[in-house]
Amino acid sequence: MNSRGAKEVTGTKYGGHQVAVIGFGYVGTVLSVFLAERGVRVLGVDSDPRVIDSVSSGKPHFKEPTVTDLLTRFVASHMLSVSNSFEGVDEAKVIIVTVGTPIGGNYSADLTALKDCIASVAGYLRRGQLLILKSTIPPGTTRNVVALMLKERGFEPGKDILLSFCPERLAEGNALNEIRRVPVVVSGINGESLRQAERFWKGVGLKTISVSTLEAAEMVKLADNVWIDVNVAFANELARICEAIGVDAMGVIRAANSLPKGEGKVNILTPGIGVGGSCLTKDPWFLVDFARSKNVAMKIPALARRVNDEVPSVIVETVTSAIGRKEHKKTGKVAVLGYAFKGRTSDTRNTPVKHIVLSLKSSGFAVTVFDPWVSSQTIENECGVEMSDSLEECIEDANAVVLLANHPEFEQDILISNPRLPKDAIIYDGWHSLDPTIVCRMGHDYYSPGHFVRKVKS
Ligand SMILES: NC(=O)c1ccc[n+]([C@@H]2O[C@H](COP(=O)([O-])OP(=O)(O)OC[C@H]3O[C@@H](n4cnc5c(N)ncnc54)[C@H](O)[C@@H]3O)[C@@H](O)[C@H]2O)c1
Repeated sequence: MNSRGAKEVTGTKYGGHQVAVIGFGYVGTVLSVFLAERGVRVLGVDSDPRVIDSVSSGKPHFKEPTVTDLLTRFVASHMLSVSNSFEGVDEAKVIIVTVGTPIGGNYSADLTALKDCIASVAGYLRRGQLLILKSTIPPGTTRNVVALMLKERGFEPGKDILLSFCPERLAEGNALNEIRRVPVVVSGINGESLRQAERFWKGVGLKTISVSTLEAAEMVKLADNVWIDVNVAFANELARICEAIGVDAMGVIRAANSLPKGEGKVNILTPGIGVGGSCLTKDPWFLVDFARSKNVAMKIPALARRVNDEVPSVIVETVTSAIGRKEHKKTGKVAVLGYAFKGRTSDTRNTPVKHIVLSLKSSGFAVTVFDPWVSSQTIENECGVEMSDSLEECIEDANAVVLLANHPEFEQDILISNPRLPKDAIIYDGWHSLDPTIVCRMGHDYYSPGHFVRKVKS
């Protein structure tokens, strides 16, 4: 019996489900599919009935390579089941929390879902269970919010309930592969929590990197994402100065990245269309806000956020000027290929494409959009544009074709040799997916972030 009088989970008996995953969004779904693949039976819990309906019928509520097929298979074989009730969580040996932690007022983390979830889970906890948090949270949250809530409900963290924070570091578009290969950073509220969490992740075949405290692991996640955001911001600024002097930024970056530095090499990332998605757009603010609460002013992450937020406007300016130069007018048709924030995902959270579409529309352009990964309803709701039925319909008669998500459906062979692509359309290649030489040989002017303009025709 624990201090609340609940029954214990004993030994290695895992009960009906071995692992309960609370929050069956992007992370929870991909993680559960990975666990099922490793032979672990999973109970998923989510408060959104639409998520439960969709997953119960064998379909995730988003698109991500290979996840749909595996999810369908694991739901059919009962390796994976979902519910909007916490019933059954008491039978799991391990409970993993992956609820959303969006940005709230004043750029701080909104922990409402996390607190609600812990309050609900607490009603189903049993002595000896391991509770692993994976949602991204500011340093101190596991100890000062979650552990405190457990104590208030009669559980001694580290004794009655083992408590661990292990950040999730997958990247959408390649999420399952990333989960399979990226080492898990592990922390615990005490030695036993750390040991059991390490044992769990190693047991499903993953490498672990243990850090000394919960706060260190919480910081690792923010450090990773701030590094990416700052690096991309620098790449985007480098691209702009290279464009201004007619130098190919991609060539500069390739050469610059050959310099050995520290334990690796200089690693400037690729300039792009701005930064989207649900993580890189908020996690740097979590760090800035947390640092402020400790009287530390972190200027670089905040500045990088602003630099990256400006990029969509720069792209609109490039495209409209290019059309202006070529057509001697600032109107016409722009075909936008890709609405998701990156390739091979349906995720449109904070997609920079939304700003680009709305801005082109308000400048008087006729804008068509096509994204085979995203629902037409989403695009219509967010931009007031009815999605084209096909790539061909989208690009027909376009003055400019703007490639804004690197989906496989927009590969060079499909796009550039498409008979419906107008011969004189300007091509803006937001993801450096195309070969500029080939695009220009086909008679198009080619633009991309940091790539100088190739004028093949006057
Ligand atoms: N998406 C990513 O690429 C990614 C990568 C690494 C880390 N993360 C972090 O992982 C967390 C989850 O991200 P996501 O993209 O999966 O979010 P998401 O919004 O797709 O999923 C969160 C899910 O939690 C559910 N939920 C909310 N409150 C609940 C409650 N009280 N009980 C049960 N379910 C509840 C929601 O209905 C939703 O389905 C966030 O903290 C995020 O920052 C995300």
